[in-house]
Amino acid sequence: MKFFIDTANLAEIQEAYDLGVLDGVTTNPSLMAKEGITGDDNVRAHYKAICDIVDDKVSAEVISTNFEGMVKEGESLAAIDDKIVVKVPMIKDGVKAIKYFSQNGIRTNCTLVFSPGQAILAAKAGATYLSPFIGRLDDISIDGLELIQQIVHIYNVYGFETEVLAASVRHTMHLIKCAEIGADVVTCPLNVITGLLNHPLTDSGLAKFLADHAKASGK
Ligand code: G3P
Repeated sequence: MKFFIDTANLAEIQEAYDLGVLDGVTTNPSLMAKEGITGDDNVRAHYKAICDIVDDKVSAEVISTNFEGMVKEGESLAAIDDKIVVKVPMIKDGVKAIKYFSQNGIRTNCTLVFSPGQAILAAKAGATYLSPFIGRLDDISIDGLELIQQIVHIYNVYGFETEVLAASVRHTMHLIKCAEIGADVVTCPLNVITGLLNHPLTDSGLAKFLADHAKASGK
């Protein structure tokens, strides 16, 4: 199972990378805006800064919504660094663009996926990654994890190579359930990754070990 961090914050990306468990980064226009990154040159420089921190797989999202625009923008983003994965929305021209990129050696992440039908289309077009949004489905009382389960099943039945990248992961339980289901990747905020560390018995157990050691050492 791969862990991607879902942020454009360089300090958080560095912290997750330093933990030694990070496999990639996903961003989106909202996350870039949250960091105050605007303007083409600044956005490109920021993607490069992210690529300089991690080993591979940095999703950079296109803003265009027509085929020609997505291809031009995607090729330009891919030229920033070999680590870039071009993130394309699940719309008709997006499917065409994913097909084009897959035929031209550019990795893609199909985003804003909310149904099994969309997942099938993206896989047939040759998407490298598929991003179904769990949390946003939960927000409207539709079971996001059930969608992940359906897609993993369909992809297994047909041997699709597209990796299921569970996105909009809001808490550790989402992540653990994705692991049980067999999602290839989860992308989530730093606090979800570090949240996996927490257990009160670990804290109390360590405190006791250290106290016993100190006592035995006469400290
Ligand atoms: O990057 C896409 C996705 O992970 C966004 O998550 O929490 O804004 O629904 P959220």
